[in-house]
Amino acid sequence: MTADVSNGKDPAAEKGPGVVKGLKGVLAADSSICLVDGSAGVLLYRGYSIDDLAEHSSFEEVAYLLFKGDLPTAQELDEFDNPLSRDATLTPQVRDFLKSLPTSVPPMTALRSAVSVAGCYDPHAEDNSPDGAYRLAIRLTAKVATMVAAIHRLRQGRSLIEPVPDKPFAWNFMHMLKGSEPTPDEVKAMDLILILHAEHGFNASTFAARVIVATLTDVYSAVTGAIGALKGALHGGANTAVLETLQQIGSVDKVAAYIDETRAKKGKFMGFGHAVYQTEDPRAKHLKHLSGRLGKEQDETKWYDMSVEMERLVVPAIGKNCNVDFYSASVQHYLGIPKDLFTCIFAASRVSGWCAHILEQLADNKIIRPSAHYVGPEHRNYVPVEKRK
Ligand SMILES: CC(C)(COP(=O)(O)OP(=O)(O)OC[C@H]1O[C@@H](n2cnc3c(N)ncnc32)[C@H](O)[C@@H]1OP(=O)(O)O)[C@@H](O)C(=O)NCCC(=O)NCCS
Repeated sequence: MTADVSNGKDPAAEKGPGVVKGLKGVLAADSSICLVDGSAGVLLYRGYSIDDLAEHSSFEEVAYLLFKGDLPTAQELDEFDNPLSRDATLTPQVRDFLKSLPTSVPPMTALRSAVSVAGCYDPHAEDNSPDGAYRLAIRLTAKVATMVAAIHRLRQGRSLIEPVPDKPFAWNFMHMLKGSEPTPDEVKAMDLILILHAEHGFNASTFAARVIVATLTDVYSAVTGAIGALKGALHGGANTAVLETLQQIGSVDKVAAYIDETRAKKGKFMGFGHAVYQTEDPRAKHLKHLSGRLGKEQDETKWYDMSVEMERLVVPAIGKNCNVDFYSASVQHYLGIPKDLFTCIFAASRVSGWCAHILEQLADNKIIRPSAHYVGPEHRNYVPVEKRK
């Protein structure tokens, strides 16, 4: 176990000897999928800079890269797109299940349950062989976006839209969400969101997926658990909280007062701080730029302007930069995505990262079983119930 002492504070010292609260800085396994360099603010997927991928790549290509380790040739990408496109259609049982849910069910709860249900009707769900798990990785990456779109439309009492074969992943996702042809700008924006959220090392949901699959259970169980972990406000739920904050503030001139109030209450600023980055989150600038562009195009710069003002005042106040969730809130709002669906959009992308880690874990498996530093009572004698006071 390696404790992160880079900030001059040994986290182990805060708890019992050897205990690292939250496992911060602990190296839990070798991984060749993603480098997150927290002090330099660098993010690489399989060695490729997130900046290059954001500018030049597509989500399909990134998913292939994460699963296989290299960027695909044109032919490999074509061959990868076929199952990705074919597997995007939901089985009737999953559609019926989603239709049976009350519209009040939180979207991430619906998604978590839909993935679990999909596993019940997949005859290959238990196949953890390298080929079998790879096929499941593609299937789940294909289906989660369709599930998210279905959850969104059913809640609005609208009909489900089928994925269109041979269309790009981001085009299909926007089309299934909106029910009309997306503009090239909307497709590009969605593709960027998907690329930036696809992978991020041993974050809570990915680590959860690895812990689960390391017991040699099935891939659906691991992805179901990962969705449950992503749902939390300290992880994927932060972008929803960011938009709620912006809506609560209401206008640029009220940002400063909100920040003073929150600081006085010792409250948290959602969308700021990061467990790994001590400098800028390298994904944030791409979303900031996109948010500014969408705001201008829609002639509604309020959400972008408020975000910029918050960033300007919060960063020096708490000494933490904004993270990926901060500008993703206004970007998704500009795309017409309701705020309680934001974390589902994150899941539709991150499922590719979860699956890459599931494949890596299965390829060199060891059950993940840390120990607790016991702080309970010493041995006590058992007293029968009638004699207890
Ligand atoms: C992401 C997060 C959970 C990382 O937590 P962490 O690893 O404990 O972060 P740090 O060690 O840098 O935090 C140390 C202290 O800095 C302060 N701090 C960190 N982020 C803060 C924020 N967004 N607002 C106010 N204070 C913050 C807190 O005092 C924190 O101590 P606490 O966790 O006991 O309250 C945390 O920064 C946070 O809660 N951010 C808001 C939620 C969010 O945006 N999550 C999405 C992450 S991509």
